[in-house]
Amino acid sequence: MKIAQIQFSPSLAAIDENSTKVERLLKSCFGSQLIVLPELADTGYNFYNREYAFANSREINKNPFVEMLLEQAKKLNANIVCGICEKEKDKLYNSSLLISPQGIVGKYRKIHLFMNERDIFEEGDTVSEVFEMDGYRLGMQICFDYLFPETWRMLAENTADIIAHPSNLVTYNAFKVVPALSVMNKVFIATTNRIGTDRDLEFAGRSFMTNPNGEIIAEASHDKEEILFTETDPKLSRNKMITERNHVFGDRRPERYL
Ligand code: ACM
Repeated sequence: MKIAQIQFSPSLAAIDENSTKVERLLKSCFGSQLIVLPELADTGYNFYNREYAFANSREINKNPFVEMLLEQAKKLNANIVCGICEKEKDKLYNSSLLISPQGIVGKYRKIHLFMNERDIFEEGDTVSEVFEMDGYRLGMQICFDYLFPETWRMLAENTADIIAHPSNLVTYNAFKVVPALSVMNKVFIATTNRIGTDRDLEFAGRSFMTNPNGEIIAEASHDKEEILFTETDPKLSRNKMITERNHVFGDRRPERYL
């Protein structure tokens, strides 16, 4: 299966401009079955305040950026995971959508809010579902969720093969932690980060893909717009043996973790 990760720099509070940018990049992903974009790809990240974020966000069914994703998923015959700023009534969520050629399949609302996100977004109330796609099973996480291993374990226990991880990383912790989460759960992880700056924040780029051995099998640059392609079989995650006698789930001893 071919996977594409689109690393780019969303402009702050510019849904139409970001939609045009992403539509152009998506056209270069033809032939990929799964495409993963960064967190808050429609609006950018570093809002001045909640009012500003609210004024510059859309409800999912009124968002031209989401309409563009729906159209492109159909044209490319691909599944797309993309971070968006979701407005629902008087609330905002930092969400990730899973879109197939048939339409919106799933949504995950970020649970672990980072820094000033707490002033803007509501917390999601549950870990992502695991979705049965075309021969593989997909879960979602968003950026700072990387610091909370319980949720990754839940997705792996719920039989995710690959976890799509739209991100806007500003520190380097995820580069240490995500490969470990991959090997501890024997899953693929597609961390798609953004580049560029939003006001005073600089983003770390270096989008990457890990395999169930915790190896980084593809990695993008720190500061260039690019599409990272990987060819792999997500079902390789289903072998949970670490050695011929050790199983990542079967060898746990929770009764002793007192
Ligand atoms: C982050 O959660 N955007 C660092």
